[in-house]
Amino acid sequence: MNYKNILFEGKDGVGVLTFNRPKALNALNPGTFDEISHVIERVRSDEALRVLVLTGAGEKAFVAGADISEFPSMNSLQARAFAERGQEVFFKLESLPKPVIACVNGFALGGGCELAMSCDFIYASDKARFGQPEVNLGIIPGFGGTQRLARLVGRAAAKELCMTGEMLDAQQAKAMGLVTRVFPGDLLMEETMKIARLLASRAPNVLRSVKQVVDRGMDVDLKTGCALEAEAFGVCFASRDCREGVSAFLEKRKPQFSQSLED
Ligand code: COA
Repeated sequence: MNYKNILFEGKDGVGVLTFNRPKALNALNPGTFDEISHVIERVRSDEALRVLVLTGAGEKAFVAGADISEFPSMNSLQARAFAERGQEVFFKLESLPKPVIACVNGFALGGGCELAMSCDFIYASDKARFGQPEVNLGIIPGFGGTQRLARLVGRAAAKELCMTGEMLDAQQAKAMGLVTRVFPGDLLMEETMKIARLLASRAPNVLRSVKQVVDRGMDVDLKTGCALEAEAFGVCFASRDCREGVSAFLEKRKPQFSQSLED
């Protein structure tokens, strides 16, 4: 597939997807969803790619939301289908069995904030801005924002953000638990890649298990979540990577973890 709206490159075990419509502040149009979906499949099936990083081209934006210029031509049914398509792609991203880091270099508004929340964690530049400004357009978030925001920052803060449409700066977003680390803008990509490369050196099965157990556990009661954890712990324990990790510790050497999710 020839990408028109994004750039993609793989290096050192890390795939980097860059939203590349800087003149529209990297807003998401239907074509962009197809391209994100294609990249997810590519990363899923390529064993050499162990981590995915998402970022935005240009100085100003990660992604400034859904492409508003598409809205006047949509009726209610088409709008619903657009929301469902976005949700489908974001679920696909969330369930990729490899770590996904949002590297938020500027505005992450509306669909951009929803996209970042579908990643495993968010690193932000000190210039980043987050928000769900759909209320200003007479609509609500449509790509999972009301749901993921409430799970990440709590019900009251989610309702406040979606009702006021106000933007958060990076430090506010960190204080609320939306962002895990904030870096000076010129260091953001470098620092993100350091962590991405670290994750690429970890045992892929373990990263997948952490992701699945945490995500599934958030939707069930504590006892069921802990049962999922014990089951995954047992599976990891039987793996080649566990034998290697334990032997390496006892032999005082660096572990050589497998390259594949299948090992
Ligand atoms: N969809 C389509 N185009 C968008 C866009 C979006 N979500 N966000 C920005 N753009 C376009 C602008 O229309 C403008 O295009 P133009 O140069 O052809 O006029 C260009 O990107 C630059 O944006 P501009 O508004 O001039 O920049 P700014 O620095 O003054 O403001 C924002 C930046 C992000 C605050 C402002 O662009 C904005 O509010 N965008 C919409 C955010 C939003 O509501 N997202 C949710 C959509 S559901």
